[in-house]
Formats: sequence, C-alpha cells, structure tokens
Amino acid sequence: MSDIYSEIILDHYKHPHNRGHIKHDTHKAEEDNPLCGDNIKIYIKVSDKKIIEDISFEGEGCAISQASASMLTEFLKGKPVAQAKKITPEQIYNLLKIEISPARSKCALLALKTIKAALS
Ligand code: FES
Repeated sequence: MSDIYSEIILDHYKHPHNRGHIKHDTHKAEEDNPLCGDNIKIYIKVSDKKIIEDISFEGEGCAISQASASMLTEFLKGKPVAQAKKITPEQIYNLLKIEISPARSKCALLALKTIKAALS
C-alpha cells in the first residue's frame, strides 16, 4: 500500500482536515467520478472581499480523492477566490507529492473540479 500511497496521503485520508458541513456556506457543489462512484461535496464561505473564509468537504471514495480534498481545502482557506479558480492539475499533484498515473488523475482532480463548480 505504501508503494502507491505516500504517508502524507494516508494521513489525510485517515484524519481528514475540514471534513463536514460548515455553517453559512455561500457556495456549494457536488461531483461524482462516474467510473467508480466516488463523491465529493464542497461547501465554501466567501467574504464580501472575495476571500475564501471557510471551506469544508464531505464525500466518500479512495484515499487519493479524499486526501486531495483534505489538502486542497486546507490550502485554499484564506485565499482569494480568483486564486482558487486558477489552480492547475499540476498544483494538485505537487500537493499530493506522488506521481499520479493517468488512471488516477480523476481521483486526484475530483476535489478541484468540485471547488471550481462551486465557485463558477
Ligand atoms: Fe474513485 Fe479514486 S477510485 S476517485
């Protein structure tokens, strides 16, 4: 297992950050990965100055999809909405710190897709 998943991914998977439904969310979205059924819901509270004041997620799925949601919500808290909209797949792979095979890229990018949907 540790060949596939780095320690950091397993740690976020077992002890996710920002899991749950924040109060007073102003934006939300839900996305599935149709191939496997993994699911992520994102809740975001955006301030008048277009800053992500709070962000959380709920969902089910593989370690990579859930860990990337944990890491990405952690990364985006306090950041401008404009920055969140510009996050690239490469930045997600850098956060995860492992090589992501093409087959797993949908796992790694599900949270990002959901966040962009929520903010669009
Ligand atoms: Fe479904 Fe990873 S196996 S998102």
